[in-house]
Amino acid sequence: MSPAGGAASLDVAVTHKDHTSADGRPLRALDELRLTLPIGKAGALVGPSGCGKTTLLRLIAGLDHDYAGHIRLPAHGRLGMVFQEPRLLPWRSVADNIRIAAPEATEQEVAALLDDLSLAEHAAHYPGELSLGLARRAALARALAIKPDLLLLDEPLVSLDAALARELRDKIAALIDEKRITTLVVTHDLSEAIALADRIFLLSPRPARVMTTLDIPTPRGRLGKEAAQALETQAHDALASARRPL
Ligand SMILES: Nc1ncnc2c1ncn2[C@@H]1O[C@H](COP(=O)(O)OP(=O)(O)O)[C@@H](O)[C@H]1O
Ligand SMILES: [Mg+2]
Repeated sequence: MSPAGGAASLDVAVTHKDHTSADGRPLRALDELRLTLPIGKAGALVGPSGCGKTTLLRLIAGLDHDYAGHIRLPAHGRLGMVFQEPRLLPWRSVADNIRIAAPEATEQEVAALLDDLSLAEHAAHYPGELSLGLARRAALARALAIKPDLLLLDEPLVSLDAALARELRDKIAALIDEKRITTLVVTHDLSEAIALADRIFLLSPRPARVMTTLDIPTPRGRLGKEAAQALETQAHDALASARRPL
């Protein structure tokens, strides 16, 4: 089911993507990386640090066009992205950060988003006054305000303490369920991926390619403890075998 004229999935087929290393030589970040995420689904990219996850998100977001291959965005391609660092405008309040990013959002919509992310009491605060957890939530509210066809989240829970990370994880899961936004989230935490995603893409060490795709059979969040544990073990084994030299 796709809106008229829009694509029904996110399709990534990157033949290769090279960076330039400090000594001027090409450094291959992505190699034959292919993935498909149907519209309305949540996908998680899981892979070791430095394998190329942020590089891939930047390609999908259209921030970097220097690669070989094709990327097709779902629906009409309107993008919301939350970077690892929240990147809010420091001289604007939380509410103004949202209004500036989404000028077509009504005041009612802005208020509802602030409410959804438990930010109402921080609406008039400036980013410098916010903890990292609050700033992440503000960045997420800003990304959602534009009503994206695709939401890209780069390690949204990293550097938060365990309780805050769980709280934000559950909030993200509830929001993407309720709004049915196609979402791609980067994480290096398998249990986080299992809690958030319908489909998990396990990436190899750099240069990244998709080694294994795992579909979560049950609706997200309703997976029993044992089933979640089995999936985690399966994913762990796949990641570990990729690290072992052949
Ligand atoms: N702009 C850049 N120039 C040169 N090398 C880069 C650049 N961006 C990333 N890299 C390198 O590419 C590899 C993948 O980086 P990145 O995509 O940030 O990994 P991840 O997000 O999975 O941790 C790393 O070795 C990193 O040092
Ligand atoms: Mg990264």
